[in-house]
Amino acid sequence: MTFLGIDIGTSGVKALLIDESGKALGEASAPAVEPVRPQPGWSEQNPADWWQATLDAIDKLKASHGSELAKVRGIGLSGHMHGATLLGASDEVLRPCILWNDGRSAAECAEMEAALPSLRDIAGNIAMPGFTAPKLAWVRKHEPAIFDKVKKVLLPKAYVRLLLTGEYVEDMSDAAGTLWLDVKKRDWSDELLGVTGLGREHMPRLVEGSAASANLKREFVQRWGMSGDVVVAGGAGDNAAAACGIGAIRPGEGFVSLGTSGVLFVSNEKFSPNTEGAVHAFCHAIPDTWHQMGVILSATDSLNWLSRITGKKQAELSGEAEAQFTGPGETIFLPYLSGERTPHNNAGARGSFVGLSQSTETAQLAQAVMEGVTFAMRDCQRVLADAGTQIGRLLAVGGGSKSNLWLKMLATNLEMEIALPEDGDFGGALGAARLGLCAATGAKPDEVMAMPPIKTVIAPDQSLSAAYADQYARYRALYPAIEETRK
Ligand code: XUL
Repeated sequence: MTFLGIDIGTSGVKALLIDESGKALGEASAPAVEPVRPQPGWSEQNPADWWQATLDAIDKLKASHGSELAKVRGIGLSGHMHGATLLGASDEVLRPCILWNDGRSAAECAEMEAALPSLRDIAGNIAMPGFTAPKLAWVRKHEPAIFDKVKKVLLPKAYVRLLLTGEYVEDMSDAAGTLWLDVKKRDWSDELLGVTGLGREHMPRLVEGSAASANLKREFVQRWGMSGDVVVAGGAGDNAAAACGIGAIRPGEGFVSLGTSGVLFVSNEKFSPNTEGAVHAFCHAIPDTWHQMGVILSATDSLNWLSRITGKKQAELSGEAEAQFTGPGETIFLPYLSGERTPHNNAGARGSFVGLSQSTETAQLAQAVMEGVTFAMRDCQRVLADAGTQIGRLLAVGGGSKSNLWLKMLATNLEMEIALPEDGDFGGALGAARLGLCAATGAKPDEVMAMPPIKTVIAPDQSLSAAYADQYARYRALYPAIEETRK
């Protein structure tokens, strides 16, 4: 028996095969067309691109690992969260998906909170423009003809699941990010749905991430050389999936992710909302477990931006920064290129470079970008601590974790050791594959979600701690000062 994890990311799809012991057997990736920004602060992607990238990635696996793929009994899905995929009467996509990093619905967030004063209590979260419900409120107001046609609202991976299985199903961890879920009860909330003029009939059926959701359609069983019933698990939002991949399912276990977005994730044994400081309190992908996270919208995406405007590749930029690094630089970067969620909840915030001089080269800008993202993660740690959450163990995942300098900055600023798994980039796909294994075999998540082999442990550099504490204080003072000038 083998199991397949499919991680649907904004920049592409990764597919990973594991065996019964959880060992990786092979992987393949396919890029997706990059999101478009029709207006500043907006971010959209065509759902057909995720589907094509999913087919491409699995077809590639068939070419490279056909015999292992044929033995798949369970599939797990991981997906970028919060995206509003709107389907009409015959499941046609009504408009491009409004993504997790789209900030257009700030006014609708305020209107929703005013219309339902208990919104934060039920949802356990602030209404933030990244979440799904405010996007529907925006469509209802600005594109009423489209809103009237909406039959179902699906998150990105539920849309891919619909095409794979023919069924509308969502898991608890991803559903928690819609702002329509009663996160404590793990059920849709009629009150929350009512605020956006929707009802349960517009939502997919809910299952736990480690439970079966539906079976793979016969045409795909045949296309990929499989046989019998192939179970598709509920799966998880990409962050809960990454947590399953690195074994962060017990209280206090967490990870720091340097992906397009940046995430500081901690598992909780009970629902632990803290709306102050824009902490996200969501269901985990396994029963009776929840998690908190601080989310920043532009982590490696900040370096992607610098790469675009300088014409230098991301690795070249971080390499240049590392080559000249002696400690905090004089330039400070605020990474609010797509607005910010934690801790500011301000979709209108924008990025800044402060402290430029004639001697500032791209190396110094790259260092400042990496430091700015690090300080933003330090903000996340601060508001989680304000919520009483202590992080017991932290692993690093995501593309940015390939940079030693970035990890050293993080360990020093978060004042804790950070462990780097051998396969830092495959957290989400591995977690999804593990959920597929649980759903297909009935194995207990606790036994399956082990910590992966660790490549290195990065310790804080005490010699830099004081200088970074000063720089972080300056960084924190800049946001209110700059916001004041933008009013
Ligand atoms: C989490 C969030 C991002 C996306 C990125 O709330 O918006 O981490 O899931 O894929």
